[in-house]
Amino acid sequence: MKSLAIVGSQWGDEGKGKITDLLGQKCDLVVRYQGGNNAGHTIIVEGKKIVLHLIPSGILHPHCLSLIGHGVVFDPEAFLTELEEVCTNHLKVTPQNLMISESASVITHYNKLLDIQRESKGQVKIGTTGKGIGPTYEDKAGRRVIKVKDLFDLELLKSKLRYNIAEKAILFNYLYQIPFPAIEQEAKRLFELGQKIKPFVGDTFSTIDKAVHSGKKILFEGAQGVLLDVDYGTYPFVTSSNTSAGGIYTGAGLPGTHLSEVLGITKAYTTRVGEGPFPTELNNPLGEKIRTIGKEFGATTGRPRRCGWLDLPLLRYAVKASNITSLALTKCDILIEVDELKICTSYEYQGKTIDCAYPGIDLHKVIPIYKDLPNFKDDFKKDCLSRELENYIKVIELALKIPIGIVAFGPERHQIIFRKDYF
Ligand code: GDP
Ligand code: IMO
Ligand code: MG
Repeated sequence: MKSLAIVGSQWGDEGKGKITDLLGQKCDLVVRYQGGNNAGHTIIVEGKKIVLHLIPSGILHPHCLSLIGHGVVFDPEAFLTELEEVCTNHLKVTPQNLMISESASVITHYNKLLDIQRESKGQVKIGTTGKGIGPTYEDKAGRRVIKVKDLFDLELLKSKLRYNIAEKAILFNYLYQIPFPAIEQEAKRLFELGQKIKPFVGDTFSTIDKAVHSGKKILFEGAQGVLLDVDYGTYPFVTSSNTSAGGIYTGAGLPGTHLSEVLGITKAYTTRVGEGPFPTELNNPLGEKIRTIGKEFGATTGRPRRCGWLDLPLLRYAVKASNITSLALTKCDILIEVDELKICTSYEYQGKTIDCAYPGIDLHKVIPIYKDLPNFKDDFKKDCLSRELENYIKVIELALKIPIGIVAFGPERHQIIFRKDYF
């Protein structure tokens, strides 16, 4: 296999970081292609926790080149803070093993302010991470975003910011009534940050293109999950990028034919952080129990994650929307603490039974239909799984018509079983 995409197949936090870390060690390149520091990818190495937001999880392997592609929204200040943290973990980060696309979009202070104001005063609360993701993608689509390469030209920065702030100043002054930095001040801040990141900035597109043609192994590290995709997700309760594999073609530059496989990551149950519909949510002590045992608190914001049963109509949809070819089932160890096991097999919706979601479906109005399954009590000390867990896996595989290639049962690198070869 030459190139593999890792995508979240739920609402994020499925354990992408752990799987990217493990498969990344077999690769030459690990590429982020969308999102920004709204992501929180946790990797546990010998008991030590490393949370990556913007830097690809390949950074843990010195031979691996980590790329931040042009589809990413990039906060230079957050990047430098993360770089410092990563370096305190004795990881070597140099322009030889990390490159940022000169064409990535920059998150300005204004965009972060706007995100936070909309969340606190707007009519619809999305529950964003407050990192300025949405407003920056809006600026990109509005053809006014600052690109990373613009950070190196102070005069260009000022003129772009002037254009950029012309509308936002009205919002800050009249709608939200809050102070905001002067253009000169923001331009100076961004210019100085630009000087610090300059050695890492380059042409990631051509680097990927050359790697593809010289037969290098490439791993694409998705952030968030298919259900948060701006086109495929539970709109408007989504993030503002294409989190599905489609985002690779636009955000990194790899033509579709070069992508060998798409590995979807799913928890053995479902979680969601932020607002929006969640058909199988357990709004009860069992949901709380899963949250506590599963340590289901956001890696970026610390917010409690909402928990519920595995939802096959949504997974079937994610598989189709992102062309997922196999799955990793994570956090199986959490369900051993639970004395019942249900799986949602279909929905009742508008008088019909349906077994696959679709973009226009109103998930607030579906009634989940559950199947009870024998619960599993594996101790994961042996390589083989219990009959009950094998049965759970079979039910999912049969429903989705793709194999579960990986079973994870703990946050550490060794707490995993590979049932399929990747790379
Ligand atoms: P990501 O955003 O998809 O990378 O996932 P997060 O890092 O936000 O959340 C996943 C959490 O589950 C992290 O704390 C991981 O260390 C942890 N984790 C990953 N796989 C497993 C697993 O199989 N079992 C348990 N108990 N924890 C896991
Ligand atoms: P990883 O990569 C889980 C959610 C937010 C909110 C919505 C929009 O760790 O899986 P945004 O700040 O992106 O505009 O917020 O998306 N969200 C995530 N939820 N994991 C993430 O990343 C997320 N990134 C954004 O909670 O509901
Ligand atoms: Mg996360």
